Amino acid sequence: MTRHTKVFTLKTWHYYSGITLSVFIAFHLFNQLMSLHSENAHLAVMKAFRTVYRHPVVETILLIAVASQVVTGIRLLFSSKRKSAAEKIQVYSGMYLSFFLLFHVGAVLYGRFTGLDTNFYFAAAGLNMYPSTFFFIPYYLLAVTAISLHVAAIHYIKTGSGGWSRGIAVIGFIVALLIITGFTDRFQWRKMPAANEQFIRQTFGR
Ligand code: HEM
Repeated sequence: MTRHTKVFTLKTWHYYSGITLSVFIAFHLFNQLMSLHSENAHLAVMKAFRTVYRHPVVETILLIAVASQVVTGIRLLFSSKRKSAAEKIQVYSGMYLSFFLLFHVGAVLYGRFTGLDTNFYFAAAGLNMYPSTFFFIPYYLLAVTAISLHVAAIHYIKTGSGGWSRGIAVIGFIVALLIITGFTDRFQWRKMPAANEQFIRQTFGR
């Protein structure tokens, strides 16, 4: 296999795992935005969505897509040269997304393994407790912003449309702010169930 075909194969894998993941992410972020309405709205939407993404076949495909996205992304880092600002933004946002996906999905799987329901409160606990909120606000804010920057950079490289690309990036940042606002009850901070508080204390030592 020539170096050229290898890069093409990696790119193809990265592209298709990215598309698969994007479908989940669109529903997932819509679910997170429900926190602006109420905890119960978030829980109800997640319950409905879980009937699809928690199906063993769908979840297996999703987890394979996560692993493929991270592995192919990291390998592409070493095989491509980045010159333009858009290429740099694509690579740096992708690096953060790889880090985020590993920790986020790892935490969800670990939480489930310990017997916790990884529902609204699982994510909300870190965001509403002190001092973990100082870690989780930038952690989630950057994750959602990184997705829109990644997509905006790809859009710019493919179409050259600066207006649309900036629009995609700004929308992502606004969605990120809205999710944090919803999860923290407009920064008035939510009371968390004891089991979720305990899980965060174990990790952050307070
Ligand atoms: C910004 C706010 C986000 C919050 C509050 C959040 C919260 C959650 C929660 C609570 C779960 C567990 C779902 C369940 O048990 O049914 C979860 C799972 C997951 N999240 Fe997120 N998430 C966020 C962003 C993201 C982003 C940006 C990505 C992708 C880059 C992502 C990818 C995933 C994946 C792949 C799973 C595993 C699904 C499964 O197999 O059950 N999340 N997230």
